[in-house]
Amino acid sequence: MGSDAILYTMKTDSDLQIPFAWEERRPVLLEKCLYIPSWGQEGAHLGPGIWRQHEVFADPNLPLAIEFCSGNGEWIANMALSHPHLNWIAVEKDFYRAKKIWLRLFRQSLPNLFVVCGEALSFSKHYLEDHCLSEAWVNFPDPWPKRSHAKHRLIQKPFEAEMRRTLSCEAPLTLVTDDERYSAQMTQVFSSWKGNSSSEMPGYGTSYFHTLWLEKQKQIHYHRFTHGSLD
Ligand SMILES: C[S@@+](CC[C@H](N)C(=O)[O-])C[C@H]1O[C@@H](n2cnc3c(N)ncnc32)[C@H](O)[C@@H]1O
Repeated sequence: MGSDAILYTMKTDSDLQIPFAWEERRPVLLEKCLYIPSWGQEGAHLGPGIWRQHEVFADPNLPLAIEFCSGNGEWIANMALSHPHLNWIAVEKDFYRAKKIWLRLFRQSLPNLFVVCGEALSFSKHYLEDHCLSEAWVNFPDPWPKRSHAKHRLIQKPFEAEMRRTLSCEAPLTLVTDDERYSAQMTQVFSSWKGNSSSEMPGYGTSYFHTLWLEKQKQIHYHRFTHGSLD
């Protein structure tokens, strides 16, 4: 990892750009960042082979961990630093937040972190092989608190199906939220999985929203599930 550190310095905001005009955008692998545009590019996906064909991690043989909805990347950058025996993928659909994660990757010299600027379900469907994940996290996904907006929540049956497909048998999925109703929905969506819920999780780490809600003395709901099935 020593020589990699040389590569991981001196990035600025303007070093990550999408190299196309808006109407020509398509998925592209940039330096340590996969960019997936938000509109239909079904035929243009680079596919799950990119993990092997390109050197996205310094050590491609480490088990894979993923965080969906990474925001500014505070949580996952710290996890990549404190858990160097795992390769970490941060998935964030907002380009400006994804860029913040990407800057952390270089500034903190994290050879086991990779950034995906794209939508969680779309990324999972097109880039993750069956049972390739050894852990998955969703930390404070947007709660869409209005009933009429709840259809936009990530944690629904299609996401459950993707997690069942991509997580290995006993690999944990951790879902964290401050929102009471979303917490209940998480339990319901994963009711066929083994799991437990708690108001504390030792060693969880910190994220922007974790700190924010703790300061406002909101209760945090931590859910951990495993599907335990071999199919
Ligand atoms: C409430 S923030 C939480 C950020 C971070 N996890 C934290 O704890 O500070 C939710 C983030 O999820 C991103 N997001 C929402 N839906 C997403 C999706 N379907 N795929 C990828 N990112 C998504 C948003 O852009 C936003 O940055």
